[in-house]
Amino acid sequence: MKNLIDIKRLKKEEITAIINRAAEFKAASQDPARGEINYTSGISDFARLGERLYRANSCSNKTACLMFFENSTRTKCSFAIAAQKLGMNIIDFNVQTSSLSKGETLKDTLDNLYYMGVNTVILRHSEDDMTERMSKEVKFPMAFINAGDGKSAHPTQALLDYMTMLEKLGTVEGKKIVIAGDVSHSRVAKSNLALLSKMGANVHFFAPEYFTPKNKEEFNVIWEDDYNTAITDADVVMLLRIQTERLSGAETEKAKHYSEKYCLTTERLEKYAPNAILMHPGPVNRDIEVSSELLDSPKGKTILEQARNGVYVRMAVLENAAG
Ligand code: NCD
Repeated sequence: MKNLIDIKRLKKEEITAIINRAAEFKAASQDPARGEINYTSGISDFARLGERLYRANSCSNKTACLMFFENSTRTKCSFAIAAQKLGMNIIDFNVQTSSLSKGETLKDTLDNLYYMGVNTVILRHSEDDMTERMSKEVKFPMAFINAGDGKSAHPTQALLDYMTMLEKLGTVEGKKIVIAGDVSHSRVAKSNLALLSKMGANVHFFAPEYFTPKNKEEFNVIWEDDYNTAITDADVVMLLRIQTERLSGAETEKAKHYSEKYCLTTERLEKYAPNAILMHPGPVNRDIEVSSELLDSPKGKTILEQARNGVYVRMAVLENAAG
């Protein structure tokens, strides 16, 4: 049983192995006849690859439980689709109607789920480090996958973002990757920084003062203090959602003016970073972080490709955990 708690604990080779496996899953899922990207050299290779991937998989009798204490579309659905593609059984645990509402602890709930046959837990929680805590408290051999906890970590998001960058750029080594927006409340920024710096990218952060973490000096990143300078000649511009559900009253007031200064428009991107790839973990606040015009243009499609790659990365992660 292999947990995935934080990207920081993965070695470079482990990250590469997950991405390569995800690419195999993607290749096997696509149909060259429909003109989709084909990683293999021909139809017969494609068929053989598909056979190897699906017949020999070791997850088919395993049960995964989706435990989402925060709302989610992409992460939750892609984990569910990934588990289905691997032939796993999936439980969509409903936090509101579960016995947690009767006062049962999460640890006791997990113990009971283990006895019922759950062997993989996919956990999203609003508290930092909850996945790690549960993985320690539960003494049974269940695999824990962090699907985003608190403001600290979102490892599978970083992996799917990395896969998307590799598809577009070939490598991230020496590339200028700018992550901009609500950095202080973002687990996506932190996991991406950990992964991308490990892989040799030059990561830059931009945040207005009210979204800059108090401990900014502790981040091993290049801090920018002007948005336009930050994105200039970037290879990737990754925007972050304003985490409205995590803001204080004062931050909410200031954030009302965010779009006036920092909304990324087609014009702005063309002026400062015409070759940049536009990314966003989603959900996007239209016309706040990015203009509708830009989002609906061909540049905006990468954001959908990120969501799609989430399925394949999560297949690879689930196979590691449960297989
Ligand atoms: C992110 C998350 O939940 O941390 N979304 C996601 O997983 N696709 C980012 C966000 O909600 O802003």
